[in-house]
Amino acid sequence: MAEAMIVAEGVRHVYRGGRVALDEVSLSIGTGLFGLLGSNGAGKSTLMRILCTLLAPTAGTVRVGGRDVLRERTAVRRLLGYLPQEFGAWRLQRVAEVVDSLAALSGMSDRTQRQRRVAEVLDSVGLGKVADRKVKQLSGGMLRRLGVAQALVHEPRVLIVDEPTVGLDPEERLRFRQLMADLGRDRTVVLSTHIVADLGSGCADLAIIDHGKVRFRGAPTELLREAHDKVFEITVPVAAEGALLELLEIVRRVANGGMLQLRGVLRGSTIPAGATPVADITLEEAYLAFMLPHGLVVEETAP
Ligand SMILES: Nc1ncnc2c1ncn2[C@@H]1O[C@H](COP(=O)(O)OP(=O)(O)O)[C@@H](O)[C@H]1O
Ligand SMILES: [Mg+2]
Repeated sequence: MAEAMIVAEGVRHVYRGGRVALDEVSLSIGTGLFGLLGSNGAGKSTLMRILCTLLAPTAGTVRVGGRDVLRERTAVRRLLGYLPQEFGAWRLQRVAEVVDSLAALSGMSDRTQRQRRVAEVLDSVGLGKVADRKVKQLSGGMLRRLGVAQALVHEPRVLIVDEPTVGLDPEERLRFRQLMADLGRDRTVVLSTHIVADLGSGCADLAIIDHGKVRFRGAPTELLREAHDKVFEITVPVAAEGALLELLEIVRRVANGGMLQLRGVLRGSTIPAGATPVADITLEEAYLAFMLPHGLVVEETAP
C-alpha cells in the first residue's frame, strides 16, 4: 500500500526552557478532512508548525508526500498550504494583491497564469466579489477565507489549518466548516481546533492530543461508540443536583417546576441511581466522555 500523505513517527518537541510540547507523536494521515482536537496548550500548533517545515522537531521524523520535512523542505513546501493560527494579513493592501503576492512567493512566476489562478481561488472561497476591497474592510470570516485562499493558491495537495474559527460568528463558522469539508474531498486537510463542532460532518478521521501525546486516533464514529454507555439523562428535584455534579458533567439542564431534567457525561464509573443512558450522543459529548475519566483537560467550548 502507498504511504499516507503525512507520516509522523516518534515526534518529540522540547522548547527552549524545557517545556515538552510533543512526546512520541506518531500519526499517519491520508486524504480527507483530518481533525486534530485538543485543549489550549495541548501541542496542536507545535505539530502543525513541524508539518509545515517551520519548526524542526527535537526528535522523530515527518514525511509529507514521501518527502522529509527536514531534508526536503522546499519540496514539502510546494506540496502544502498553511493557514496559521494568527494570520496577520496586510491591512492596507487589496484582497487580490495579497493572494497574488503570496502566489509569487510560492513560486508561481507567470503573471498571467497567476492572475487567472488568483481570481479562481478567490471565487472558490467566496471572495470573488471583494477582490478589490482593502483587507482592513473584511469581516473576521472573510479574513479567514482570505487566509485559506493564500494557502490554496499554488494548488497544494495538503492544507494545514490551525484553529481557524477563533473569533468567527456562528454563521461564519458554519460557512467555514462547509468550506473545509469541500476542500477535504480531494486533498488532505489537517484542521486543529479545541472546538469539537468545528470538525463538522465532513471529518472522517481524528486524533485527540493532550499534553503533547496522542490519546485517541480513529473515526468520529469510533469515539461515539466508545461513549455509548457514558451519557445519561436523569430527572431529579432541584435540591438533588449538587450531589449529582460529582458523578456527571452536565451538558444540558432544563428546569421544570421543582424538577430538573439533566443530561450529562459520566465523570468516572459510578452511574447515578435512576439515570437512563441516551442513544443520540453528540460528538461533543463523546469527546467529554473520553477526556473526563482520563483526567484530561477540556476547555469550555464556544457556541
Ligand atoms: N515558543 C515557545 N516557547 C516555549 N514554549 C512554547 C512555545 N510555543 C508553545 N509553547 C508551549 O508548548 C506547549 C504546546 O503549545 P502549542 O503547540 O501552542 O499548543 P496548542 O496549539 O495546542 O494550544 C504549551 O505548553 C505552550 O505553552
Ligand atoms: Mg495553537
